[in-house]
Amino acid sequence: MPKLSPAEAAQPVVSPLTSAAMFLVLTVEDGGEDAVREAVPDLSAYARAVGFGHPEAELACVTGFGSAVWDRLFDGPRPAELHPFTALDGPQHSAPSTPGDLLLHLRAQHMDVCYDFAANLLTRLGGAVKVVDEVHGFRYYDRRDLLGFVDGTENPEGVEAVAAALVDAERDPEFVGGSYVIVQKYLHDISAWNSLSDHEQALVIGRTKTGNVQLPDAALPKNSHVSRNTIVGPDGEEQDILRANMPFGSFREGEVGTYFIGYCATPETTEQMLRNMFIGDEEGNRDRILDFSTAVTGGLFFVPPTGFLDDPPPAPGRGLAGTAASDDSTDDDSDDDPLTAPTTPAKPRTSDGSLGIGSLRS
Ligand code: HEM
Repeated sequence: MPKLSPAEAAQPVVSPLTSAAMFLVLTVEDGGEDAVREAVPDLSAYARAVGFGHPEAELACVTGFGSAVWDRLFDGPRPAELHPFTALDGPQHSAPSTPGDLLLHLRAQHMDVCYDFAANLLTRLGGAVKVVDEVHGFRYYDRRDLLGFVDGTENPEGVEAVAAALVDAERDPEFVGGSYVIVQKYLHDISAWNSLSDHEQALVIGRTKTGNVQLPDAALPKNSHVSRNTIVGPDGEEQDILRANMPFGSFREGEVGTYFIGYCATPETTEQMLRNMFIGDEEGNRDRILDFSTAVTGGLFFVPPTGFLDDPPPAPGRGLAGTAASDDSTDDDSDDDPLTAPTTPAKPRTSDGSLGIGSLRS
């Protein structure tokens, strides 16, 4: 198998912004590990089954695994920098760490395909997992958040997006094309925000509201969101992350929010941004956006390359014998294969050209 570049190896992390997104955070129940691991090679089949007939929907499904569940699911090497989300307790604002073993980031131009992908997968997984957070995001006008500002403008693009978001061979040769993703659900105090003038709001964000232009350096407050999140590495180069935030809202729950999602080749960059926002610098500059937005969830996940999903390692401690045992057991279960249920996706092609899916895997 030829060595793939990070962009070739990756799940669709570097994908265009879409009109709809679904963010699902799941925990894996005790005893649910085998069901989850056995579903992993079928993730791309589910995406193809739903998305293939609707190319205009541009469905992109990304799956990430949390630190604790990684060791429950997989034998073999761990992603070098995978660890639990670090909660932050700043002088005024906190970033909690909340439960989550799996992250599904589903993006498309319309929600129906996200819904169908999730329905197929969650039906398959049944009681093996619990949905602990679910957010349906939508595009708001010209990609604005519900604070009214265009969100995503300074995202890296093209090769810069790949370099920012994806692990390369130098960083971690075992996981080329992987990515570390941090998610946080933020709830906005919209009436407090609306009590500010547009100019005051621009000083909080660091860009103008209507024109979406960054404030000149002399006018950019150190506690603005842009200022707190502009960071440079030891080489003086700006450090980027790739964001795919989405607005969401619920009238019944009284929620107006932004689902923050940031991909990076190393979690350290995003974590530094979070420390800048919540803990602040020695002069006490923290992110003013936090006076209006509260983080209510927090999770860190590793998004392995597609090849890892298609052919995951055996269960921990089972080694090769375990692989055989688990393959035997799936053969035994073939009559109950949920892939033969009415929601069955089309069978995928594997690298050997077979219909190597679920219990049909040779
Ligand atoms: C309430 C949640 C958030 C909202 C509403 C929000 C919104 C925005 C907006 C409107 C911008 C300016 C336009 C642009 O996207 O370039 C921006 C920039 C940015 N945000 Fe956020 N953001 C949120 C949370 C976060 C978090 C948690 C991080 C990092 C951990 C982050 C990192 C960034 C970065 C890196 C930029 C670009 C800065 C630059 O180079 O100009 N954001 N955000």
